[in-house]
This record gives sequence, structure tokens and C-alpha cells, in this order.
Amino acid sequence: MCGIFGCVLKEGNAAPVIRSSLKRLEYRGYDSVGIATISDGKIYLKKDQGKIDDVHKILNLDDLPGNIGIGHTRWATHGAPLKVNSHPHADCTGEIMVVHNGIIENFMALRTELQNLDHTFVSKTDTEVIPHLIEETLKENPKLSFVDAVQESLKRLEGSYALAIISTKEPDKIICARNESPLVLGINGNGVFCASDIPAFLPVTNKAVMVNNGELVILTAQGYEIKKIRDSSPVSREPVTIEWTAEMAVKQGYPHFMIKEIHEQPETLRNTLRMQEHYLDLLTTFLDRANEVFLVACGTSYHACLAASYMFSKLAFLPTYPVYASEFIEQHGKSVNIDSTILAVSQSGETADTIAAVTCAQQRAATILSLTNVIGSTLTRISRVYIGQQSGPEIGVAATKTFTSQLSVLAQLALRLAKKRGKVSQDEIDSLEENLDKLPDIVDTVVKTQEEKVKQIAKKYKDSKVFFFLGRGISTATAYEGRLKLMEIAYIPSIAFPAGESKHGPISLVENGFPVVFICPKDDSHKTLIGNIMEMKARGASIIAVVEEGDEEIKTLADEYVEVPKGIPSVLSPIPFAVPLQLLAYYVALEKGYNPDMPRNLAKSVTVK
Ligand code: F6R
Repeated sequence: MCGIFGCVLKEGNAAPVIRSSLKRLEYRGYDSVGIATISDGKIYLKKDQGKIDDVHKILNLDDLPGNIGIGHTRWATHGAPLKVNSHPHADCTGEIMVVHNGIIENFMALRTELQNLDHTFVSKTDTEVIPHLIEETLKENPKLSFVDAVQESLKRLEGSYALAIISTKEPDKIICARNESPLVLGINGNGVFCASDIPAFLPVTNKAVMVNNGELVILTAQGYEIKKIRDSSPVSREPVTIEWTAEMAVKQGYPHFMIKEIHEQPETLRNTLRMQEHYLDLLTTFLDRANEVFLVACGTSYHACLAASYMFSKLAFLPTYPVYASEFIEQHGKSVNIDSTILAVSQSGETADTIAAVTCAQQRAATILSLTNVIGSTLTRISRVYIGQQSGPEIGVAATKTFTSQLSVLAQLALRLAKKRGKVSQDEIDSLEENLDKLPDIVDTVVKTQEEKVKQIAKKYKDSKVFFFLGRGISTATAYEGRLKLMEIAYIPSIAFPAGESKHGPISLVENGFPVVFICPKDDSHKTLIGNIMEMKARGASIIAVVEEGDEEIKTLADEYVEVPKGIPSVLSPIPFAVPLQLLAYYVALEKGYNPDMPRNLAKSVTVK
């Protein structure tokens, strides 16, 4: 996710302001920190891996001279969390400095092009192409002003960015620009600020100007000028007054991180669609060669694995075995061998059971692949190949946005493998890819249109003593995840299982008013699922159905229903169908007076077995 900040002050040194502002953006990432300033026409730079306070203790970030500068706190996506990959990044001459939040999708092509023009790259980041591209644009068009060269270079970037750029060529200004990644300006009597988010400058000003996609801003001590990147047309936008307290600002006005992170899912899903092709291809190659594949994880990440086992089977005809990491050694520790492949999934990359399972498999010469949100975590260090899910830090203890991101990456892997194996038709692949691209908007619609309805359902059922969550096929994984969310933050004992299992025991619990949540995508299991709903209804259960829009059949059977846009392929359905369940857990917890961000007895990263 990363946080960027920049300021041009009328008086005083920029560096201490940048450091303290970055500190307030640390919730966006804390793998490394860097600040560059300009004084007397020269660039000054300090950066290193580690959290801001730790790096500051060693480097004293405050003593950089100058009233103008930019800074960055990093959440690693492209390149490990090392000093060399820390921002700001420079061109060959060291005269252009760039901080960036986002993902440049075409960075490989640009990098190759620039390397062929003798540019030397030092990092593994996508960002580094930007200063080199500006340098090259100036070289090719020496008459361009620095601002114009930046603007021309931006036109060549594909992907997402919030950028702040300084250069000795025009040492009195910061140029910033936005496409998809957040960027906001702050204004006070002593200067102007640009930042990923309002909390960065809230202690010094509550006057903010939002920057929109496709806009470039020139900041000087006198103020700001906004124009469109596309055609230079000027944009006039007055500051607004922000009424948030500092604490509210970190949560962007949401009362809790969990609900903020639920709402962030359209953005995080967009990020996961910008995975590095190279890593997806590598993982696909390993999976294609594998004799047996274990999908190993805990908790929510295990549910992502369970869903993935359906994806791999249905799309790529690859049987995989989802295994709870805590059971892996007992269950497979003796049989796992050089022909086994482990795909470990862990948001934190530090979960003790997952690391233990992977270490056991590694000692027995199995191939270790992983998917994690934390590049540089223990899991990445012991994996042959890993891929970062690019969700940004998740602060709420209950996993929400990281779950849907995991599902998106796993679906992309399954699709790639399907393509490689030629198991499904090109038409089907095209349609699945189109649907994957639509998911961020679909999730956005679910959150926007269903939140109020879920709130009412939460109010009505908050005093229930127990809940069932049922689904068939891949929706079993969604049901398990809905159950875990409700249990862990609303403390309501809940039971989930494949709907077909009800008759084999659990249905005996059902009596009048017993809430049963059914996950009902319109897939092959739809008809049979209706039978399961009828069985529950006949015994007095209250049916809460998550259905596709226009599914009149189930809507008339259900006591309550929440709708998800129609036409989502079954293998992708857990992504949008999980969202109402996250909201349900959140609002039931609120109704019961619990803090959903800090469920009792739980920790974000479980580093003991
Ligand atoms: C539930 C939750 C946990 C984690 C589990 C694994 O909301 O967050 O169940 O999913 O502790 O954590 P990671 O994915 O970090 O290995």
C-alpha cells in the first residue's frame, strides 16, 4: 500500500515535518523509509529498511537540510524490503527523486527499453522506471521544462500511482500526480503538503484539496496548481475543511478498521489484478509439474485454500489437498517427499503452524511455494517461489480484504494453469478473465447496496444463540468463512458445513427461529441447495440467503435475503459472496457492543503453535 508525503515550506526545515507525517502514515506500510530534500540546489537523501523510528535512531532523518522534500514509508510489493528497494528512487544522475504508491504494470517493458538506452537500475522496484523515464524524456527533448517532462513521462505509465517528484532542475517545486492510488493536498500559512492520506498533515492543517485521477499538481511555497495530465487543462479546486480528529482520520472517518478494510476491497482487488506476471507464471509452472499439491494454511487463509481446491480442480483439472497447517505434520509429515508441492497461504507469513508445516515439508525436500501479504516475512524466506497478494496492511484482527485478495490471486493462478494445460476452452477463459476484472466493481456494488440491509438483519438476529452457515461446492468455503467471522468478533457459536451434510446429523439442532445462512450462487448446486433450504424451513429455521440478484426462487423461500450482482461464475463467487458475511459479523458485533477490531483472546499474527 505505501504512504507518500511531500512538503514545500515557506520557513523551516522540511525533513522533521516529513518524518513525523510519515509516522502517521505507517499504518500503510513500514518495511522501509526514505526522505529526500533539496537545499541550495542539491539533493540530500537518507533511506533504509525498517520502521521509521528505528531508521531515524540510526540515521537521524531530521537533519536533512532544505525547506522542500518528499518521503515514503513502504509496503513491499515489487522487490524485497531492503535498503536498495527503499524510496525515494533516483535517475542515473541522482538529480530526480521519486516516491510512489501504486503499481506500474508496464514496468518490465519500460525497464528493458531504458536499459537498452544505457540507464542503470539498482533496485527491483517498478518505481525506479519513473525517474529514468523522466531523465530520458528530458534527454530526448532538452527544451522541455521539468514539469512538462514529468507530464510526458506520466502518459507512458500504465497502472496505479500517487507520485511526488523533486529535482534539482526546478528545485523550488514538488510535482505530484495521481492515477487510482490516493493523493491529497494540505494547505496552511507556512506551505503546502501532499500525502497519501489526510492523517499525515492533520496536526498542521485541516484544509485539504483532493486530487483526482489523471491530475498533476505543482506545489510551491506559494501554493498549488492542478492540471490534467492528458491535455494540461487547468483544474480549479478550493480546499475543504476536514472535521475529523486524528484518530478518525487514520480510519478515514470509519469507526473501525474492520469496516474500513471491508470498504477497501474494491481497491485491494484492483491491486491483486496487477500481479507480476512473472511470478504467476513461475508458480503456474511449478504447480503444473507437481505430483501432489497441498494447500496449507490456518483460519481464513485455510478457507481461501479450500475455495482454491475447487478452482484448481474445476479449471485446471489439478487435484489439490487443502490441509490445516496445524494438522499437516501429523497427517502428511511422514509421506510428504521430493515429489510433493506445498502452496502455503498466509497473510502475515509468520503464522507458527504454517511455518512449522512448511519447514517439515522443506526438510523432506518438497517444493515450497507461497502466497502472502508480507514480503520479507519468514514464509517468503523459506519459499522457493512466493507471490505477494498486495492487499496493504490489514489492521483489524479479523481478516477481510486479505481473504478476498487471496481468492483473487488463487483464481488467477488456477486460470493460468487451466490455460497452460488447455483444459478449458478459450471462450471460457476469456469470460472468466472478464469476470475477474469486473469483481472490484461488483464488490463495490455489494458494499454500497447491501450494507443497510445487512445492518437490519444483524439487529434482528443479534440475540440468536447459534447460527448455521451452509453452502454447496465452492460455497462451502464461503460458509466456513462467514461462520469464522461471526464467531470471532460477535462471539456467537456458529456451525458451518456443506449443506448436503445437514441430514447426516446437524439438522437435529434446528428448531423454530434458528438462523441458517445459505450461500446461494446460481451454479450447478442451485437446485439441490433449494432442497436443503426446504428441509431447514420445514423445521422452522429462519432462512437468511445470500443470493444472486433476481433469484426469485430463493428470495420467496427466504426470511431475509441479501443480493449480489448476477452472472458471477461459480469459481469466482466466494469473493463477492463473502462480503455480506463480513458485514453481518461486523454489525452483529456492534449490536452486541463489542469492538470488532480487537476480539478477545485473538492476535493478528499467531506466532505460537
Ligand atoms: C480470521 C483470521 C485468522 C487468520 C489465521 C491465519 O479472521 O484472521 O483466522 O486467518 O490466523 O493467519 P495468516 O493468514 O496470517 O497465516
